[in-house]
Amino acid sequence: MAIYDTLGVTYGRTRRPDPRIAARIEAALADAADVVNVGAGTGSYEPARTVLAVEPSRVMLAQRPPGSAPAVRAVAERLPLRDDAADAVMALLTVHHWSDLAAGIAELRRVARRRVVILTWDQEVFRERFWLVRDYVPQAAAFDDTRAVPVGRLVALLGGARVTAVPVPHDCIDGFGAAYWRRPRAYLDPEVRAGISMLAQTGEDVLAPGLAALADDLASGRWRERHAGLLAQDSLDVGYRLLVADL
Ligand SMILES: C[S@@+](CC[C@H](N)C(=O)[O-])C[C@H]1O[C@@H](n2cnc3c(N)ncnc32)[C@H](O)[C@@H]1O
Repeated sequence: MAIYDTLGVTYGRTRRPDPRIAARIEAALADAADVVNVGAGTGSYEPARTVLAVEPSRVMLAQRPPGSAPAVRAVAERLPLRDDAADAVMALLTVHHWSDLAAGIAELRRVARRRVVILTWDQEVFRERFWLVRDYVPQAAAFDDTRAVPVGRLVALLGGARVTAVPVPHDCIDGFGAAYWRRPRAYLDPEVRAGISMLAQTGEDVLAPGLAALADDLASGRWRERHAGLLAQDSLDVGYRLLVADL
């Protein structure tokens, strides 16, 4: 069973595309005439010119909205596509789940005619700048340490890539890991946590003491005092990175 057959049950509710992040992905895809989306999930950020979505989880596939691009149940490591099948291949917030990263990236390069676009995060920046994992649930960061892909490794596997920061808007619609950096109360909501694999896979028992400390700090006003600077910011770079490789 694919991991997202369990994790993905509420994905369609908490993980909707954010238009500002969509605009960055669209700009990265630029003039690609057709796109393949690998690790496509429910289809977030898929442009209309997507010719195929590749996704291993039945639960995620079932949540793709009507009218989405055709989808196939398969993994990045073995794409059911011919060489040079589309101008661009994109893989968004997925490479950390792959069982064989090198094989998956080789497949993206084989199938893309011109460009590969990857959205991922830099774990060192994330650990240092994201208060939730730094101050309350370091166990979640420790879990991510085991699967986060170093950006330098990705760039090397891609044979070079431009790397740009993707700051997270304070009201980010897509509920991924750091989406609620300025809305701390959200992390106390089990449905929000269920849509964030770093938290869902760390487990509720392990998170409980840190979340209780966060609840206390919110009730006492300590969180606000400590993070007054953050509350004045509209967006925050917590390490999300867009990689664009021209082949
Ligand atoms: C966090 S979700 C991201 C989904 C979508 N790209 C998005 O941005 O909303 C990660 C996705 O990667 C998929 N995945 C896991 N292992 C994979 C693999 N080996 N090849 C391709 N996709 C995989 C999961 O099933 C899940 O749908």
